[in-house]
Amino acid sequence: DQPLREIADERDVRIGAALAPGSLRSDPSYWKRAKDEFNAITPENALKMGPLRPSPKTYDFTDADAIVNFGAAHDKYVRGHTLVWHNQKPDWFEAWEHTDDQIRTFLRDHIHTVAGRYRAKIDAWDVVNEAIADDGSLRETVWSEALGEEYLDLAFEWASEATDADLYYNDYGADAINEKSDAIYDLLEGMLDRGIPVDGVGLQLHALGDHPDPESIGENIERFRELGLDVQITEMDVAFHRGEVPDDPLEVQADYYRDVFEACLDAGCETIVTWGVADASTWLRGFADFPERYTGDPLLFDERYDPKPAYDAVRAVLED
Ligand code: G3I
Repeated sequence: DQPLREIADERDVRIGAALAPGSLRSDPSYWKRAKDEFNAITPENALKMGPLRPSPKTYDFTDADAIVNFGAAHDKYVRGHTLVWHNQKPDWFEAWEHTDDQIRTFLRDHIHTVAGRYRAKIDAWDVVNEAIADDGSLRETVWSEALGEEYLDLAFEWASEATDADLYYNDYGADAINEKSDAIYDLLEGMLDRGIPVDGVGLQLHALGDHPDPESIGENIERFRELGLDVQITEMDVAFHRGEVPDDPLEVQADYYRDVFEACLDAGCETIVTWGVADASTWLRGFADFPERYTGDPLLFDERYDPKPAYDAVRAVLED
């Protein structure tokens, strides 16, 4: 059978997976699926500030290079994730005594260095991740405390100084039309009005138990596109609440993947990235109390790297 990536290449759309360096190095089945089946990749953790910054003045690019170079070697679209986030900051960060000015200099240098290093290899960056709280207000973070709401504008400007990649705002829970996606719409409209170089919005689409309505996702995509922004699905996975698993979970999951892919492609979203290669190493199996709350098989390939009904469903949409 023709691998998914070839079908996607022919159709000029992108099907992606988030990648982890350990699995890529040590697991041949993982490596092969990552290489053959996806024409887009996102480092799952390796480009975040924590993993990249062993100390306030130093960088460790080992894992990030491994993934980005894998992308370059196999002609993949590479999404950089993420330059500015309130989570996964370095361990030393809390204890680091700093002024607001030092935060500003630190963040600017971080963005210039990281985006600049991958100028030729990273196609799109999640410049700012998850800046809006679930009620639609600006999330209070170390960045907003030090720099005010302007930190978003600054981050996009600094990124555009260092790279020609497309620059995205990325968030979760804003996949369909709701209070949070309304707030993100207003935020990005304001940034565009001010001439800030924002190119697109990433909808994460972690469908964990609650599965946002595909039709509403399509309408959400359309309204952002009408603003002049590109829209990508950046972190898709599909799980169930432990207490609410349907009788035929793999079929329900496949149907949801199919409905979302159809709605997204119809609405003009042409990049859909899944948050991992196979169920064997999904973040849901190791993150906080999530293993107790959600089923742990949210992806297109199973435990043994065999394709699931969801894979066939996605394939059928791309072939259509
Ligand atoms: O690598 C370290 C290891 O050295 C250490 O011994 C171990 C002990 O806790 O932790 C390992 O780091 C973990 C890392 O994943 C790599 O496995 C972190 O604890 C763990 O918190 C981290 O979780 C990641 C999570 O972001 C952090 O918030 C997940 O893998 C990653 O999938 C997840 O991705 C996020 C996106 O970036 C943003 N959107 C939501 C998405 C899901 O939460």
